[in-house]
Amino acid sequence: MTRDSEDAAADAAIHTEALRKTYVTPRGEVPAVHGLDLTVRRGEFFGLLGPNGAGKSTTMGMLTTRVLPTGGTARVAGFDVRRRQIDVKRRIGVVTQANTMDRAVTIRQGLEYRGRYFGLTTRQARQRAAELLDRFQLGEVADAMDDHVSGGQSKRAMVARALIHRPEVLFLDEPTAAIDPQARNGLWELLRELNAGGQTILLTTHYLQEAQELCGRIAIVDRGTLLTCDTVAGITEASGADTVLTLTFDGPAEPTVERTLKLDGVRRAEAEGTELRVYAAKGEGLLGELIVVGADHGLAVRNAATLPPSLETAFLNLTGREYREQ
Ligand SMILES: Nc1ncnc2c1ncn2[C@@H]1O[C@H](COP(=O)(O)OP(=O)(O)OP(=O)(O)O)[C@@H](O)[C@H]1O
Ligand SMILES: [Mg+2]
Repeated sequence: MTRDSEDAAADAAIHTEALRKTYVTPRGEVPAVHGLDLTVRRGEFFGLLGPNGAGKSTTMGMLTTRVLPTGGTARVAGFDVRRRQIDVKRRIGVVTQANTMDRAVTIRQGLEYRGRYFGLTTRQARQRAAELLDRFQLGEVADAMDDHVSGGQSKRAMVARALIHRPEVLFLDEPTAAIDPQARNGLWELLRELNAGGQTILLTTHYLQEAQELCGRIAIVDRGTLLTCDTVAGITEASGADTVLTLTFDGPAEPTVERTLKLDGVRRAEAEGTELRVYAAKGEGLLGELIVVGADHGLAVRNAATLPPSLETAFLNLTGREYREQ
């Protein structure tokens, strides 16, 4: 590392250079993460976004010292994840993708034990647990066992537990994957408040909307490689992400494709059944023209939707593939 990048690494919440993980399995080598350069500043709400198998959990595993890198470097809160594991562990809170709540104790006890583990006195642990239970609206279920509470409550309890020792960096791996929309919105609200209070958060998700709603900056990863890293606006602009218009006609859309492709600003047009999908450099005025094209073919528009440049259209531009959430 150069002097400058060393300073940046020490000051950043997370800093990786050429970070790599190749799993060795009986069926051969799996290159899960190959050469990741990332910097997350203190106070950021940062999203690691990518489809299934992109390498998000592996990256998180390396940053939280649970997975040993096979190459490159990573520092969290200024400490090398390989050489200073204990220093890193003390400064991070982790919510893994799988449920890791202890089924043999109540939620309150789980929080208190974790506090004791991190060196709080019994009294401090009790106080901090009570404070977090209240803040995360877990008062009602505080004395229940984890398998007697809802998925959303269980997730909130995991986040509360991860915060017991006031970590510098909070890691969340797909926090809303298995919970209902209402619980998800509640969790989003809590996470926003935490970040507004200065908490650095790294969140992995395969939901575009989640990354878009919560994160100041986003890294999009796919097949172990970083595609781009910026704000949502920066990503959509830089990738030349198109506006996507979808029109549903009252008959087959295929005959309209040829003329649509000749319209100003249209990059691509596809017909499927009665649906016409148009990728355009800009959306303004185009809908009217498409309606005319339809009418000239004796078709009326039943439905029309305009998708402005978004992470979805950016992913399509970067990979040539549609982003699939499941
Ligand atoms: N312990 C392991 N041993 C071998 N291969 C693994 C292991 N863990 C993950 N992989 C493989 O590494 C790749 C990346 O997996 P990873 O779990 O990091 O992806 P992910 O982005 O978190 O996916 P998801 O959205 O499904 O959680 C996948 O091909 C996966 O099968
Ligand atoms: Mg994962």
